[in-house]
Order: sequence, then C-alpha cells, then structure tokens
Amino acid sequence: MPEKYNNPSPPEKESGFYSDIVRRYETEVNRFVPGYAEEIVPLVTGEVIRKAHNGAVLDLGSGVGNVDEIIIDQANPQSIDLVEILEPMIEESKKRLEDKNSTIRFHEMSAEDFEAEPNSFNAVLSNLVIHNIPYEDKVRLISNIHKWLKDGGIFIWTDLVSFSDTAELERCFEERKKIAISMGATEEFAEENFKKEREEDNMITVEQMTEMLQQAGFQNIEILWTRYNEVVMRATK
Ligand SMILES: C[S@@+](CC[C@H](N)C(=O)[O-])C[C@H]1O[C@@H](n2cnc3c(N)ncnc32)[C@H](O)[C@@H]1O
Repeated sequence: MPEKYNNPSPPEKESGFYSDIVRRYETEVNRFVPGYAEEIVPLVTGEVIRKAHNGAVLDLGSGVGNVDEIIIDQANPQSIDLVEILEPMIEESKKRLEDKNSTIRFHEMSAEDFEAEPNSFNAVLSNLVIHNIPYEDKVRLISNIHKWLKDGGIFIWTDLVSFSDTAELERCFEERKKIAISMGATEEFAEENFKKEREEDNMITVEQMTEMLQQAGFQNIEILWTRYNEVVMRATK
C-alpha cells in the first residue's frame, strides 16, 4: 500500500494525512494485500508464537502493532522489540499495547539503523516492509538479522516480490488492483499504490531472497505461503 508515510515531512503540515493513514491502515492493507488478515497474519503469528513462547521477539517495521498484539497475547514473550520508522505508526502501537503486561521496547527508527547484541532473539519477523529497502541495505539487514538471532531461531520474512518476467508482475498488479477496488478502495488510492510499487519499491524475486538468506548463513529456507506477488518465507539460524 502507499507509503507516502515513509517520507516524513514537517509534522505540522502532514499530521492530518498521517493520522488519517494510521486510522485507515488496517482497512487499506486488507484491500491491497489479498490474504493479509485471513492468511498472512495467522500464519506469521503462528510461526512466531510456536518459536518464541517466553522468548525474545523482534518485529522490523511493526506498523500499528496489530501483529505484535496477537503475539503478546498468545506467546507471552519475555520481550518484544518493535522497530518502526514512522512516528504516527509507532505512537499508535504504543497506545494499542499500553495495557500489556510484557516487556515491550519501541524503537522509532529505520530497520537499517537498528542495532542489537548477537544471539538476542528467538524469532524475528518483518511483514511487508523490506521491499522498501534498497538492495545493498537489504543485504546488510538480512545479515544482521542472522547475527541477532539465537541458534535455532527463526526469521519470518513476508514481503511483496518481483518476478524475472515483468509481465507476470503486471498481471499481479492488475489482479490486486481489481480486488482492492472491489473491496472499496478508491481508484485514486489504487493508482497511487501501484505507482509506488512499480516506481519506488525495491522488490526482489523469491530466488534473490533465498540467495540473500543463504549468503547470510540461514538454513532450512522455506516458502510457507504465496499468492500474487506476496510471499511468506521462514529461515532458520
Ligand atoms: C505495509 S506496513 C506493514 C506493517 C506491519 N508489519 C504489518 O504487518 O501490518 C509497512 C510498515 O513498515 C514501515 N517501514 C517502511 N520502511 C521501513 C524501514 N526502513 N524501517 C522500519 N520501518 C519501515 C512503514 O512505516 C509501515 O509502518
């Protein structure tokens, strides 16, 4: 979905737009990422919950904290670190999670700038975020994620992907646009979304993701789910 909100401008000028996008986030992500609520979120949270019961979790690009809320409620993690670049999103997640009785740390920064000690986490997740990050920074981030995980820890990487056949990617955009509009998205917002995906995002193919994970030292790399140009992968340290 459009992430104009990735480029913060002066807050006084943009706060209306930001609070609007934050309020609308869960509606829009369901329209623009088919399968998000009914398949991706249960799959991702299920994987993390199984691995991180009483353990340490890191969410890179945590948005409004909806995924983290499920993990906290069901896994009772020892700690959860939320990294989110955008202030209005992280503020929303703070409100959402304020009553939770877990150790929650909020980091308002880019995933690329986050630092942690080696062997810190049982599970790292990043849901629909890394396609925003340029290739070389992605390589460094994936290598850091491997370093930050404990042995046997898992990385659940959900993302929008590209294909070597660009016509296939265009077919996915068309299908997803039809779905978004049938679910109530405006033509204008849909145009904006797919313009961003075409022109600004840094999507890579599943093969490139796999190679990047292998290069970082991950093992047992598996595609858990895929639809259109969306994929959920699991990799183990
Ligand atoms: C499509 S949303 C996904 C949010 C959440 N992970 C989910 O599953 O719903 C992408 C989020 O990643 C954040 N984001 C984008 N680039 C980022 C970066 N480089 N570092 C940290 N967060 C980033 C955006 O601000 C936005 O909140």
